[in-house]
Amino acid sequence: MSHCLAPGYISDAAEQALLPETGAYSRENVVMSKTESNAAGAAEGGALEIKDTRTGTSYSVPILPSGPEGDTAIRALDLRPIKVQPDEFGLMTYDPAFMNTASCKSAITFIDGDKGILRYRGYPIEQLAEKASFLEVAWLLRNGELPTQPQYDEWTHKITYHTYVHENIKTFLQGFRYDAHPMSMLCSSVAALSSFYPSAKNIQDPAERDISIVRLLAKLPTLAAFCFRHVKGLPFIYPDNDLGYVENFLSMVARMTEPKYEGNPIFVKALEVLFILHADHEQNCSTNAVRAVGSSHVDPFSAIAAGIAALYGPLHGGANEQVLHMIKEIGDVKHVPAFIEGVKGGKGNKLMGFGHRVYKSYDPRARIVKKLADEVFKVVGVDKDLEIALELERIALSDDYFVSRKLYPNVDFYTGLIYRSMAFPTDFFTVLFAVARTAGWLAQWEEMLNDKEQKIARPRQIYTGYGERAYDGTLDYVAGQGRKKDAVRK
Ligand code: CMC
Repeated sequence: MSHCLAPGYISDAAEQALLPETGAYSRENVVMSKTESNAAGAAEGGALEIKDTRTGTSYSVPILPSGPEGDTAIRALDLRPIKVQPDEFGLMTYDPAFMNTASCKSAITFIDGDKGILRYRGYPIEQLAEKASFLEVAWLLRNGELPTQPQYDEWTHKITYHTYVHENIKTFLQGFRYDAHPMSMLCSSVAALSSFYPSAKNIQDPAERDISIVRLLAKLPTLAAFCFRHVKGLPFIYPDNDLGYVENFLSMVARMTEPKYEGNPIFVKALEVLFILHADHEQNCSTNAVRAVGSSHVDPFSAIAAGIAALYGPLHGGANEQVLHMIKEIGDVKHVPAFIEGVKGGKGNKLMGFGHRVYKSYDPRARIVKKLADEVFKVVGVDKDLEIALELERIALSDDYFVSRKLYPNVDFYTGLIYRSMAFPTDFFTVLFAVARTAGWLAQWEEMLNDKEQKIARPRQIYTGYGERAYDGTLDYVAGQGRKKDAVRK
């Protein structure tokens, strides 16, 4: 018997069985169309023939039409009708950490991890890094095409004129301790912005979405700079509308008594390129967080705050900070071989700034960053830690442990060295990443909202706990109130 899991990937009856609140399929109502042939499934993208050895039943699961770059997939829901007993839930896929699961269709960023390719909306990252501006890339990510001159002028004007934050945000930031991590401050202050713009929750209104996107892109540098100044104990510097996006940011970070800030052109260029390189990276941990949180239809300030929280982690955006800590710990070039041996020996250390979930060859962003580092070091002099970094890279690229695991330098390996040579403190590196990634998060958030197939993100689990058992607690409780007796005072 062959069960063809209907073309269109789930039958009408199954579609109707969707439970509106949870997005879950009811067990009883999922109906498979039975057929002796798999022709329907094979018609478009082919089909996957599966035989369930528990029952001897064969199934034909349609393969989705492949994407323009050859991505192929089956719908996990098409496996649900595979079951032994009719009242079973049905077969799920198990994929901790989403190693092989596409959570969405996206037209924004393409990565070929084996070939080391990264493109935004079809444009190679190398060309964008060389020729585009960050706000042009932010427009491209969101709109799918490069802006015309009038579009760009309006876009940059709007962003420039929304850079100020409510004065109460200053008070809010001043509540943090002098040694607060700037990522905690950034995350909280972006979440706090949500309360200043209550209409941002009207996410189905394109005009509200538009102004929220402009506000977030405009205010992130201001908040980031305020976090910097707070930690340094310096007065906040207001935005300067005469300056471009990157130079204005540097002005808010670095300006002291001078009436007009003029950024070092090499630093302005370097930061602009680094912002472009970090602007998006398809379904990475923080973007997935923004999409997942945003799928509950919360306002975008709250969703972006979730992305910042995810980015903070040392395995994600926090890695650039960790690279510097690692180099400091190594201390001298002559200690590099011993450090590498320690990493290989599984002493708990990883070679930070190496390895990537997707890139299994050189991260194309790392190549650009390395070149950029050379340009910056020509101006500020060779960073003493660069020597250690170069030696780490040299040994790792020729060592079988790293080569066999396809561990190459990622974007974070050299960015930290550039940021430090520009005098940014180590714990501020991830903040710089967050400012840039906001462009990608917002584009991905809006794409998710406009995607008719998306629903609230709610994975399944494989339950591994107890079966049902009777309550046998031995604690005292206040009868009739159903609560444990308060045992705070002994
Ligand atoms: N140093 C030493 N060994 C490593 C490293 C590393 N940096 N990365 C992976 N491995 C080993 C890992 O121990 C495993 O070995 P084995 O097969 O013997 O158990 C193998 O390589 C495969 O690693 P994995 O952990 O299964 O790979 P993953 O795809 O789950 O992890 C990663 C990707 C980026 C989390 C990981 O490579 C890592 O922790 N790198 C260091 C942190 C870092 O630089 N993160 C920045 C990533 S790029 C920017 C961003 O995402 O924000």
